[in-house]
Amino acid sequence: MTTDTARPSTEVRVERATTRDGEGIAQLINYWAAQGQMLPRTLGETYENLRDFFVVRENGRVVGCAALHITWADLAELKSLAVEESEHSRGIGAALVRACVAEGRALGLSRLFALTYRPGFFERLDWQQADVMNLPRKVWNECYRCPKFPGCDEIAMVLDLEPADATS
Ligand SMILES: CC(C)(COP(=O)(O)OP(=O)(O)OC[C@H]1O[C@@H](n2cnc3c(N)ncnc32)[C@H](O)[C@@H]1OP(=O)(O)O)[C@@H](O)C(=O)NCCC(=O)NCCS
Repeated sequence: MTTDTARPSTEVRVERATTRDGEGIAQLINYWAAQGQMLPRTLGETYENLRDFFVVRENGRVVGCAALHITWADLAELKSLAVEESEHSRGIGAALVRACVAEGRALGLSRLFALTYRPGFFERLDWQQADVMNLPRKVWNECYRCPKFPGCDEIAMVLDLEPADATS
């Protein structure tokens, strides 16, 4: 994979993942996990959570992915956001986040959160930094099983959703 910031912008199409995308999703996540940018996922975990995922494909190959994982009645986590390095700065990451936000609204959620080393990317999309300890359901459902707990160095970002428009 190479960095190519001069690449011309082409249409970005976000779609729901299918079982054909499982290996591509896991490879993309684990590429960045090996660089310490995100947590790794096994292929089994990827398939178990496949219905959470959106993907962007290029000639059938997964070049971007993100998952929206419901945590509680009002809360979901945006997870596993990853874009192939050669495809960066085409708007794929932002399009994947927007797809998760739209789904969060459609589901009636009032808040999304993400844990990230890239807070600036989320701030550009109007997310705000938060204290992870203010997300107790995340902490006590999942974080306490993480090898990094309680020394988590990821930054919590939140986005509060407007109530869905009842007329739409
Ligand atoms: C973060 C990531 C998903 C963004 O994907 P992308 O497709 O390049 O995103 P977009 O094209 O929508 O936006 C890219 C813009 O965000 C900016 N950006 C990326 N990280 C940033 C950061 N930490 N702070 C500020 N801006 C940032 C880029 O500079 C770029 O700006 P430009 O459009 O002016 O060139 C991608 O860099 C990635 O896969 N990183 C590795 C995995 C990772 O960190 N995932 C997040 C875990 S939650």
